[in-house]
Amino acid sequence: MEALILESTVRAPRLTPPFERATFDMERELVARELTRQFQVVRPLGRGGMGAVYLARDVALHRYAALKVLRHDLRGREDARERFRAEARLSAQLEHPGIVPLYAFGETARLMYMAMRYVPGESLGERLRREERISAQETRRVLVHLARALDYAHGQGVVHRDLKPENVLLDRETGRVLLADFSVARRRSWDPSPAELRRAFGTPHFMSPEQAVGDANLDGRSDLYGLGVLGYLMLAGQLPFNGASFEEISAKHIFSPLPPLAPLAPHAPRDLVRAIERCMAKELERRWQHGRQLAAALDRTADWFGVRGMFRRFTSRRVPLA
Ligand SMILES: Nc1ncnc2c1ncn2[C@@H]1O[C@H](COP(=O)(O)OP(=O)(O)O)[C@@H](O)[C@H]1O
Ligand SMILES: [Mg+2]
Repeated sequence: MEALILESTVRAPRLTPPFERATFDMERELVARELTRQFQVVRPLGRGGMGAVYLARDVALHRYAALKVLRHDLRGREDARERFRAEARLSAQLEHPGIVPLYAFGETARLMYMAMRYVPGESLGERLRREERISAQETRRVLVHLARALDYAHGQGVVHRDLKPENVLLDRETGRVLLADFSVARRRSWDPSPAELRRAFGTPHFMSPEQAVGDANLDGRSDLYGLGVLGYLMLAGQLPFNGASFEEISAKHIFSPLPPLAPLAPHAPRDLVRAIERCMAKELERRWQHGRQLAAALDRTADWFGVRGMFRRFTSRRVPLA
């Protein structure tokens, strides 16, 4: 697991054959066998630190679902099983257009699974591997959607803790941006050891300084830091901080000044650049304090001269950004 940490940077391919492919096939067979009455497995969708995710057809309801199954290699570990249950419980309580909804959860003798709404399209990670940089307009749109989803989750007392491109899904059909993967999200405070930190978070690239030092009382502003790193990566096509080890990258998040974004994204509007940099202030007080504050700031300036803002005041109707 430890050796995988730095391979899971944003541009690494998700499946590294032949090991991953073989595991995937084996798991897929197991899922097909165990859940044959409820789901028909169609194809793999992705894989992360906790789960393997498959596109499956719900036999009774005649609809597709994304079936997330606890990774085969973690099946025997009670801490992983409990984390998976916690993820399901937490997801079940969140209901927001920017958060992937949970359909069902179940445990059989040989596997644990949750069925979620299938989001057709790709993850932001896949998109970044394809395109490297994302336009300022699209970056703004993604950030606004995510800031709203985070604001809602934070209002429910939930901190996501694992913002990264693979956990952001882009719905090809509706244009919506959805936040996925609450596998390390927490309601209560949590005091992880450095080893736990590494295990829980595949990569330190999106980790806030307070998360990197193992602060037990993270709040929503820590997620907004991670959101800032996402925005930086989308515009600049590179991460703000990189390094050869978990420790080196974490240390940069804690101590190194942020390399200015403007020179790396010369065509991006200044307000967008500033909003992203404000997400990544080292001191919590200097960041955006709430997702809605960030969303409003980005949304308000989405048009030149605030034309849309004026239009909105006249009509008093909300103009969706999507
Ligand atoms: N609802 C979904 N619809 C489509 N693809 C999904 C869905 N949920 C997850 N995926 C894909 O599976 C990958 C892993 O899912 P994720 O929930 O992040 O698992 P993990 O907790 O193991 O990181 C995602 O990066 C994404 O590519
Ligand atoms: Mg994930």
